[in-house]
Amino acid sequence: MLQINNMQAGYGNLRILRGINMEISAGSIVTLLGGNGTGKSTLLKAVSGLIPLMEGSISFDGVDITGLKPHERVRRGIVQVTQAKEAYPAMTVEENLMLGAYTRKDRGAIKADLDQVYEFFPVLRERRVQLSGTLSGGEVQMLVIGRGMMAGPKMLMLDEPSAALAPKVVLDIFGNINRIAKTGVTILVVEQNVRMALILAEYGYIIRDGVIMLQGDAKKLISDPAVKESFLGGSVADTSKILHN
Ligand SMILES: Nc1ncnc2c1ncn2[C@@H]1O[C@H](COP(=O)(O)OP(=O)(O)O)[C@@H](O)[C@H]1O
Ligand SMILES: [Mg+2]
Repeated sequence: MLQINNMQAGYGNLRILRGINMEISAGSIVTLLGGNGTGKSTLLKAVSGLIPLMEGSISFDGVDITGLKPHERVRRGIVQVTQAKEAYPAMTVEENLMLGAYTRKDRGAIKADLDQVYEFFPVLRERRVQLSGTLSGGEVQMLVIGRGMMAGPKMLMLDEPSAALAPKVVLDIFGNINRIAKTGVTILVVEQNVRMALILAEYGYIIRDGVIMLQGDAKKLISDPAVKESFLGGSVADTSKILHN
């Protein structure tokens, strides 16, 4: 579905991504892992078209999208939920969700997607007429994921959905990412919560200094000594709930 070939990108003359190759097949959940400042968000921005490539190409559904504008990529089904959890605080939850559908005209399908967002995140239904500025951090994360769902994605890219959230909320959100995948949406999730991400995903890429240093089957990466040593210290949360939602 998504193919990235020799992607090089950055800011001004600063080259952050130094030849990235990735392949994501339709319907899969793939995770991109790595420490702070290694280029994860930059890679998502390049796929979304928010920054240009210096070298390389991106294709989606067999079409070269390297030169397309961000909104043209959204229309093709590439939707990003950014790392900054930005909701419009003076708008209601439902108004924020409907913003996600601004490029769409299929009213029936939009209503069905809204119902599905509320089914997955019942707290958003409860708070639908409430101003977004009154939501908790976890609820805002649900809201921005819901807004991404409202764009009708074929591929949803999530930038650190677990950041700064309590473990229980993270489990809920990861369970719902899995449910979104089961509706046929391809998922690319960037995470620093390596263990949780590798349990959720089928395949993982590990980036360091703008290059992919390791990639493979997610369940193999969990037990890979190099991954264990660099990333998997600390306690083990009860992650069994993610997949049994
Ligand atoms: N808008 C920007 N202008 C210049 N440098 C940036 C900008 N955004 C990020 N960077 C730099 O690019 C590198 C990678 O950043 P980023 O992709 O955000 O990392 P990650 O998401 O993996 O934490 C960092 O060194 C960061 O300082
Ligand atoms: Mg980032």
